[in-house]
Amino acid sequence: MTESIRFLMCPPDHYDVDYVINPWMEGNIHKSSRDRAVEQWQKLYHVIKDRAIVDFVPPQKGWPDLVFTANAGLVLGTNVVLSRFLHKERQGEEPYYKQWFEENGYTVYELPKDLPFEGAGDALFDREGRWLWAGYGFRSELDSHPYLAKWLDVEVLSIRLVDERFYHLDTCFCPLSGGYLLYYPPAFDSYSNRLIEMRVPAEKRIALEEPDAINFACNAVNINSIVIMNKASDSLKQRLAEVGFEIVETPLTEFLKAGGAAKCLTLRVTEPVLDYVHANQPVESRTIRIEGHLLDAGIMNQALDLVVENGGSFKVLNFNLGVERQSPSSAEVRVSAPSHELMEDIMTELIEIGAVPPPQEVCDVNTEVVTQDGVAPDDFYVTTIYPTEVRVNCEWVKVQNQRMDAAIVVGQTAEGLSASCKLLRDLKVGDRVIVGVEGIRNPRKPESREQRNSHQEFAFMSGGVSSERRVELVVEQIAWELRKIRDRGGKVAVTAGPVVIHTGGAQHLSRLIREGYVHSLLGGNAIAVHDIEQAMMGTSLGVDMQRGVPVRGGHRHHLKVINTIRRYGSIAKAVEQGILTKGVMYECVKSNVPFCLAGSIRDDGPLPDTEMDLIEAQAEYARLLQGAEMILMLSSMLHSIGVGNMTPAGVKMVCVDINPAVVTKLSDRGSVESIGIVTDVGLFLSLLIQQLDKLTRPYHLVQTV
Ligand code: ARG
Repeated sequence: MTESIRFLMCPPDHYDVDYVINPWMEGNIHKSSRDRAVEQWQKLYHVIKDRAIVDFVPPQKGWPDLVFTANAGLVLGTNVVLSRFLHKERQGEEPYYKQWFEENGYTVYELPKDLPFEGAGDALFDREGRWLWAGYGFRSELDSHPYLAKWLDVEVLSIRLVDERFYHLDTCFCPLSGGYLLYYPPAFDSYSNRLIEMRVPAEKRIALEEPDAINFACNAVNINSIVIMNKASDSLKQRLAEVGFEIVETPLTEFLKAGGAAKCLTLRVTEPVLDYVHANQPVESRTIRIEGHLLDAGIMNQALDLVVENGGSFKVLNFNLGVERQSPSSAEVRVSAPSHELMEDIMTELIEIGAVPPPQEVCDVNTEVVTQDGVAPDDFYVTTIYPTEVRVNCEWVKVQNQRMDAAIVVGQTAEGLSASCKLLRDLKVGDRVIVGVEGIRNPRKPESREQRNSHQEFAFMSGGVSSERRVELVVEQIAWELRKIRDRGGKVAVTAGPVVIHTGGAQHLSRLIREGYVHSLLGGNAIAVHDIEQAMMGTSLGVDMQRGVPVRGGHRHHLKVINTIRRYGSIAKAVEQGILTKGVMYECVKSNVPFCLAGSIRDDGPLPDTEMDLIEAQAEYARLLQGAEMILMLSSMLHSIGVGNMTPAGVKMVCVDINPAVVTKLSDRGSVESIGIVTDVGLFLSLLIQQLDKLTRPYHLVQTV
């Protein structure tokens, strides 16, 4: 017997399954046999008693789960952090455990109300005493972990449970002596698995398969080289034997019905800890402020959900509900995350939905200086499409050239402080780049409810597949917008793929250009080749556009066309010489609409106009997009995605594609101004022309059509 090892147990006199607070209890209410439970408990007790000292907390009528003493609290030395149960079904156990600890000379620490922590069920010491593994996700709250670190003076590693069958850490995780770890990896999120892998070398990790996991093989009591558990497969026995452990099986099936087994039924009150281990816990907290129609626009839910989904936790410090229909609400929320890295991820997303640091909290963003051309500091802030402001010298400075996927460079110009988006490749040694997420905000214009609703109207196509009637309605709105933009001298850009030509859209797009609705055209080599093929030879990729059938020798047409344009030197020159007389490219030349053909992967060309230097092409795209109020994205996934990324929020994007996935990808940028339309692009363009025609007729005629 090892004198120095002690456990606390509670005889199962009043044990039963009386309620359901975990998935194991479902369907098991009053289904466990008291006699068998007593017998199984006794056996476990004897197995342990042969190897350690066992103390008892007296059973209490009406508290059936009191047998699971692992949930009494977490003990280290003479200190104990008392459990605060999540479920009211177990909260009544707290005073009994507290009494036992106090009577036995422990210093009892109690967590604030509403901050659940379920003791050693969710907190397991490394058996070498190097640190404490603390679980959260179901029963214990992440925010309880800093208290553990402080009160017990240990390093706490927070890991997140994600499978509700393994709702307590000790159901799927069991540190063993010698630094070994028995665990079930799928019960944890990927961040936690990474953390586990960083702390426990591969040769010491014993990962279970599901059948052992659901037999509660991780819910084991480890005393030196003995591992006591409900049941183990032969392969598990063998694996543990290989590294020097002996499994003692003792059936605990009656307790499994309540979601517990060997480890749950015991609390080790003598835990090892190394002298040099001290409080350290990477849990970080920050306060954010968020404003707007928090409830009716769902912003509050969105914010809190994203915190939790990313493995964080929160405390709402205050919430001022806007009482009038138009008055915005505001809230301050303290966000915590298990590590700096996850905190930054969470903050990045919160900033995107409009969260800001509380006033005066941050006076300056963090910056680092670029030390290699074209390479940002590691932790650089990645920009979004949303208007951004950054804190410099206690002032909010608006970021220039807003676009996504860039870094922000801060500097001093003649006019004062400046901040602007810069692509990685444009960074120069000495540039001061913002790192981290502190002091950054994406301020939103407080929308009135009415504005919000009208946006929704405009965006009502974005989710799901559109019926024909809906397409017509949306096209009507787009026609109206196009008309307004043209009449006020605004700018519309079009990205188009060759499908526009194949589906018979060339004549319609040509008209849009001719009538002044389009101010720049972006695409690849293909749109121009197919357009010119159609204009010059009547086919598109060899298919006769009038009859819809392939033409003999038609597969050579596009090459002939490329060759012809190459002979004249450029599309514009072919137009000038009267060789090219119609089509999309022809109209661009005639109406002085600038275009950029960005590259070609096929080696059949390219056209002389095609820009084969992609960096040049990207720069040209950016130039052509400057100031655009609306972008029509016509069946060109790659060019459209490229363009979408270069475009700040606020620009209306209309994405048309027959493939719903493309439309969803493009219209789903969280900005209300994007519409996705799932339809044939040729059809869309013809509808658009019809609608524009309607608009140009006098009002009384419109009414009669
Ligand atoms: N029915 C109990 C509950 O759901 C079982 C507790 C098991 N204890 C444990 N340490 N895993 O709380």
